[in-house]
Amino acid sequence: MTSRREFLSVASLAATGIVLSPLVACSREAPTTGAATTATATPAPATGPMLTRPIPSTGEQLPVIGAGTSGSYEVALDSQEYQTLKDVARIFFEGGGSVIDTSPNYSNAEDVVGALLDEGGWRERCFLATKLAADSRAELEAQWADSLRRLRTDRVELLAVHNLRNLTEAMPFARELKEQGLVKYIGLTHYLTSAHGELLQAMQDEQPDFIQVNYSVNSPAAASRLLPAAADQGVAVMINRAFDDGRLFARVGGRALPGWAAEAGVTSWSQMFLKFAISHPAVTVVIPATGKSDRQADQLNAGHGELLTAAQQEELVGMFS
Ligand SMILES: NC(=O)c1ccc[n+]([C@@H]2O[C@H](COP(=O)([O-])OP(=O)(O)OC[C@H]3O[C@@H](n4cnc5c(N)ncnc54)[C@H](OP(=O)(O)O)[C@@H]3O)[C@@H](O)[C@H]2O)c1
Repeated sequence: MTSRREFLSVASLAATGIVLSPLVACSREAPTTGAATTATATPAPATGPMLTRPIPSTGEQLPVIGAGTSGSYEVALDSQEYQTLKDVARIFFEGGGSVIDTSPNYSNAEDVVGALLDEGGWRERCFLATKLAADSRAELEAQWADSLRRLRTDRVELLAVHNLRNLTEAMPFARELKEQGLVKYIGLTHYLTSAHGELLQAMQDEQPDFIQVNYSVNSPAAASRLLPAAADQGVAVMINRAFDDGRLFARVGGRALPGWAAEAGVTSWSQMFLKFAISHPAVTVVIPATGKSDRQADQLNAGHGELLTAAQQEELVGMFS
């Protein structure tokens, strides 16, 4: 667990590289068709552009609020949940989102993402991230071909090795795909604090463009060594489990937001947890998951307004540790 002192020493670093972007973050063609919508009451969207941060290896700007797909996108294509996800995707892209993270490990999530991007016409606005998770070269090749087919695309923006699995074969394969122009960036992921040491070592050995790691108000350990090392090494950081897989909402219950929340433009706990993640200067994008329209709209609002001060971040860690 990160000590309060270690956390503060990192959190008090000045935020660097943060800029405002137009609503459509990637300079790509606008979609020609809109996704079908489902009537849902959603929070009013924040006005103005979402904050962006640069990918250190290229300078490409990414909107700070992305979308995860574990669980929330693992639904049948003929279900009502899929119809709702069309609305979620529309809210996400129209609200300035771009980064979607998925994996062949999330049952049919890649099929769902592929269908949403295809049917909604969102592919050119999307920074699409998927993963490699297989134990031999032959399986890696087959899995990659299957991911492209399921995602209905011929390339992805980011290909990461899932939970550092079979690194010795997976990273060379990912590098080959990058050299062939089928993948723009390569990365490494994990979601457990107990794996941070291993992830740090792999980041130093492999020099990826991205790491993806867990970081939240109740699991802030990445701030002690991993996030500063990523900043020093020029590695982009994608944050998973910002809600501790949803468990943080049970922790807050009906508890009121801190009195200073309005100073950062925060009006919900969801926004507060996401703002905590993006307030670390090493963080490029946070990828919360949701399959609900109102929650998606609420999450996007965290990409606007002031970041949290070091003292505010420390107070949150104190509340949830
Ligand atoms: N090893 C890896 O590479 C790895 C590991 C873990 C995660 N990831 C990636 O990171 C993403 C995020 O992590 P995660 O999905 O594990 O956890 P998370 O984003 O911390 O939490 C997602 C959960 O929170 C719920 N939720 C969202 N907003 C809510 C709200 N306002 N009130 C109550 N519940 C709410 C969602 O349910 P609803 O859908 O019902 O809203 C979902 O069950 C994943 O989806 C995945 O893309 C990668």
